[in-house]
Amino acid sequence: MSFTAPITLPGLALDPQWYRRAVFYEVMVRCFADSNGDGTGDLGGLISKLDYLQWLGIDALWLPPFYQSPLRDGGYDVSDFKAVLPEFGTLDEFRELVTKAHERNMRVIMDFPLNHTSDQHPWFQASREDPDGPYGDFYVWSDTDKKYENIRVIFVDTEESNWTFDPVRRQFFFHRFFSHQPDLNFENPAVQDAIFDIIRFWFDMGVDGIRLDAIPYLFESEEGNGEGEPPTHAYIQRLRRMVDDEYPGRMLVAEANQWPREVAAFFGTAEEPECHMAFDFPVMPRIFYSLRSQTSGELVKILSETTDVPPGAAWGVFLRNHDELTLEMVSEEYRQAMYGWYAYDPRMRSNVGIRRRLAPLLDNSRAELELAHALLFALPGSPFLYYGDEIGMGDNIWLSDRDASRTPMQWTPDRNAGFSSADPGKLYLPVVQSLVYHYSLINVEAQLAQSRSLLHWVRNVIHVRKAHPTFGLGSLQVQQTDHESALAFVRSYAGSGMHFGDQSEEILCIFSFAHNPISVTVQMPEHAGASLTDLFGGGQFPSIAGDGVVTLTLGTQSFYWLKITDRPA
Ligand code: NOJ
Ligand code: CA
Repeated sequence: MSFTAPITLPGLALDPQWYRRAVFYEVMVRCFADSNGDGTGDLGGLISKLDYLQWLGIDALWLPPFYQSPLRDGGYDVSDFKAVLPEFGTLDEFRELVTKAHERNMRVIMDFPLNHTSDQHPWFQASREDPDGPYGDFYVWSDTDKKYENIRVIFVDTEESNWTFDPVRRQFFFHRFFSHQPDLNFENPAVQDAIFDIIRFWFDMGVDGIRLDAIPYLFESEEGNGEGEPPTHAYIQRLRRMVDDEYPGRMLVAEANQWPREVAAFFGTAEEPECHMAFDFPVMPRIFYSLRSQTSGELVKILSETTDVPPGAAWGVFLRNHDELTLEMVSEEYRQAMYGWYAYDPRMRSNVGIRRRLAPLLDNSRAELELAHALLFALPGSPFLYYGDEIGMGDNIWLSDRDASRTPMQWTPDRNAGFSSADPGKLYLPVVQSLVYHYSLINVEAQLAQSRSLLHWVRNVIHVRKAHPTFGLGSLQVQQTDHESALAFVRSYAGSGMHFGDQSEEILCIFSFAHNPISVTVQMPEHAGASLTDLFGGGQFPSIAGDGVVTLTLGTQSFYWLKITDRPA
């Protein structure tokens, strides 16, 4: 497969706030491409696919953990933070990946599960064997499991308690996740320093940013619920100061699965900044809710709550990732509705969420896939795609836990979907062979050959977004409509004038969740008399009338992005 040169927006390469305009792509090294035929994806394979990602228009890769690990939690159970798991490659290959990505104007951010380690980590082994030694206080030990009783269990499918008894040290250790993942003791200054040391190690290796995994859970207290406790925020503020001083231009992104105000706290303030970005957990499930309820009310409500971020900060918006579609941050009523629509088979559920990929969630409806992506690319913040969703890959709910949506990338209709030359039985997970999503139908090669494929559509929408910095940098104002299925907002950007394309601009984005065509009236008093032009094809739409009202018709589950050109006064 060969790929033509991409369209790159001038200025992104030198912009210290590059992450505010970037399109991110989450790719698990294990899942993307196998360069040596051992059945597991590796860094060499990923390097060989950089041309594809550049062609797609990706500005930054997010790599989930590829450290040394027993892989009992997809690599989030790390046994050496400064080594690459040998089946994935070597540190030299990682350096090569960063260099080759940078040559393509693409950045690399990596994951850092700093809250915990694997129980195989030498720190834990030393801690359990020698309580008085240098690592004795590296973990949270207790003689009783009755401490921190306000702290909820997250992995409810597998864990009954956050405490597990260790027969070696004859004490309980604390863990927010699996019982093989002991939490580090952040009260210990030596742990705090060890974490800084690891971050410096990877920044020195050239990475452009770090995803701070499970960031709310660093410190525990008897009074609090162990989520975003004040010392956790104080520690991240210190980390941010270190990054700003020693590694300007690099970024931190917070993984905090919490309610809007609590997630936003991880941006910190203008005076005391914390993370540059935070994943928009509040907005994500509400996109799926709107698609099935055919109403926009929930999105309107959440957008009014979550848009304000400190200067220089940005949301990371996403539809799916390597975890279950979490439903922790919706009310019980909505959760039940979501299970009914999207997880009617109990096998589709995992913990408090749904372990399915985007295309099967949306029943492979092209209209819904386009609508969901149009929202993803128009909402405030920077979009994060999940590997394979650009071709509408399926999942495999017969695999355990979240492996359902971590199957090999489907490149071609050939053996192992072109992912690997290994004996099919040797693959880390089988390729999808279901009726609708079989790799002989859903693969990159076939979609490249079809100009109307989802892949070409996604590439096009990425490039339209990238030609308008407003989507990354602009503010958002929800507009009133007369239809409960419609969501309308204006994105406005004053423009910096620093380079071509970076001018002041306003864009009306309108979406219909209705399962039938609708006509909708939008109130836009501030733009009375303005004209509207489609961003995709340049088509002229009805102008906004003198009273500030415009009526538009939208097809079933469709959208428009319309540039607003105000008449000169
Ligand atoms: C969040 C990660 O996204 C998830 O995959 C992992 O299981 C937990 N953190 C625990 O590390
Ligand atoms: Ca391999």
